Amino acid sequence: MSPFLLTRTLPEDATDAALRADVLHGLTHTPKTLPPKWFYDARGSVLFDEITTLPEYYPTRAEREILVARSARIAEVTGARTLIELGSGSSDKTRHLIDALTDLHTYVPVDVSESALTGAANTLLAERPSLSVHALVADFTQGLALPGTPGPRLVAFLGGTIGNLLPAERAAFLASVRGLLSPGDSLLLGTDLVKDASVLVSAYDDGAGVTAAFNKNVLHVVNRELGADFDPEAFGHVAVWDGDREWIEMRLRSRLAQTVKIPALDLTVDFERGEDLRTEVSAKFREDGVRSELAAAGLKLTHWWTDERGRFALSLSTAS
Ligand code: SAH
Ligand code: AVI
Repeated sequence: MSPFLLTRTLPEDATDAALRADVLHGLTHTPKTLPPKWFYDARGSVLFDEITTLPEYYPTRAEREILVARSARIAEVTGARTLIELGSGSSDKTRHLIDALTDLHTYVPVDVSESALTGAANTLLAERPSLSVHALVADFTQGLALPGTPGPRLVAFLGGTIGNLLPAERAAFLASVRGLLSPGDSLLLGTDLVKDASVLVSAYDDGAGVTAAFNKNVLHVVNRELGADFDPEAFGHVAVWDGDREWIEMRLRSRLAQTVKIPALDLTVDFERGEDLRTEVSAKFREDGVRSELAAAGLKLTHWWTDERGRFALSLSTAS
């Protein structure tokens, strides 16, 4: 078998239809919103990777620290032969896990970004030519059809990407992940932790403006895919900490009263001066909350590890 297979589980027009539905819904309701998965075209994926190297953006470094320290233990506890990674992006941190999983048969990265999947597979296979990689271009919130690879399976969801789902979406997502697990399989979940608001806001509003460019990238995506005439410079990047809901919100704030045309939807959208378009929530967690959200989905948390400074956590759970 070739060491690299790529399966597109959604036809191109399904992605197009999903974007249309999300833009139509999100821009015709108050407050205006867009789901964060549309950040990640090829440019957005590159910008995200740049974010992970910024001095203010600690989550990637903190999670890598945990993976370096704990991958051997994760391999011992799970004995995984298949590693499925949801929202795998560059798969960069995943190498620590792949190298520790001595019985690994197949790595299954799953992402909406095909460019991220092929880039990651090329890099991984150049270093590990015998690794078998079966990449899936898929939306992890839409029910996954996984390849028939040997168990035990370890499903990894790293980076704190679970925090980009709203609470109801998280509950549905965790229940669907639970449905993928057979006895002996595990979920490895990365969650960013609640901390000082100033640290959080800096992580989402960096001095070099990379997060601002990432945020505005969603407007470039809508312009390209739906023929819209958003002027990204007519919006400011905003990151706010919501202390009640314990999440960061990224928004695009209209610098002036303006009207945007979206021909593919036959839609015009008015923005008031100072009006916000919410583009992402990034929820931050506490151990008890993670444990109870997992339990509500039928998952039992068995291990909880944090970095030295307690900024980020990796948890391991199994079907209960
Ligand atoms: N796991 C990597 C990347 C995190 S960035 C890390 O920890 O650094 C989030 C990744 O999830 C991106 O690669 C993005 O394309 C992907 N993604 C976001 N929403 C998705 C969805 N609904 N389905 C599949 N992939 C998604
Ligand atoms: C992918 N996800 C976990 C990132 C986060 O921190 O919520 C996306 C991101 N948004 C702004 N910076 C990074």
